[in-house]
Amino acid sequence: MLGADVRVWNWSQIREGAVIGAGTVVGQMAYIGVDVRIGRGCRIMQKVVIDTGVEIGDAVFVGPFVTFTNDDRPRAWSTRDLTGIRWHVGDGATLGACAVVLPDRHVGHHAFVAASSTVTHNVPPHALVLGSPARIAGWVCEQGHRMESGDTTGAGTERTCKECGFEVLIPRDWEEGRWCP
Ligand SMILES: CC(C)(COP(=O)(O)OP(=O)(O)OC[C@H]1O[C@@H](n2cnc3c(N)ncnc32)[C@H](O)[C@@H]1OP(=O)(O)O)[C@@H](O)C(=O)NCCC(=O)NCCS
Ligand SMILES: [Zn+2]
Repeated sequence: MLGADVRVWNWSQIREGAVIGAGTVVGQMAYIGVDVRIGRGCRIMQKVVIDTGVEIGDAVFVGPFVTFTNDDRPRAWSTRDLTGIRWHVGDGATLGACAVVLPDRHVGHHAFVAASSTVTHNVPPHALVLGSPARIAGWVCEQGHRMESGDTTGAGTERTCKECGFEVLIPRDWEEGRWCP
């Protein structure tokens, strides 16, 4: 089901049961699997693979060639039961070009996955992760600017964006990579 003003470019395949929110744009040659959920105002770039089990929030950027992989141990001759695999991507997050997200890994709201990263652990909200495997390399504001760290207390670290003034407390658990949607 496509919301109002959804635009889908040529040669994309949107499977049965998929729901795409109003104003989202799907680029050329995208694959969107059965029952996938994509929110409003997202930009899904060309040649992505978004398989069954993916749930994407609002205003999410999914860069070209991003792939959600659904089988950890594929063999050409095996057909494993892949039901129950889930991925959740929070509102305002960015997945850079060619990022790969392994099964049952989640990306928090406003997190930023750098180009060509392999997501092997959950990515906490506002985290910038990069590399393969993707590691936390900093924290970004809603606009994607890197934030500076301020006071640290038992609760976590205050982070502020000098460019837009955004402020957020990043809990210690998130800093240590412990986060679950
Ligand atoms: C991560 C990113 C946002 C840059 O962030 P930044 O804070 O400006 O980082 P810098 O460019 O200052 O680089 C910081 C370090 O990270 C490294 N780095 C930057 N991007 C990287 C990436 N994608 N993967 C691995 N390392 C990366 C740099 O080499 C640098 O390391 P060094 O200090 O050892 O040289 C950017 O490189 C990126 O990946 N953007 C996504 C682009 C994209 O996919 N767009 C899709 C539309 S086509
Ligand atoms: Zn900012």
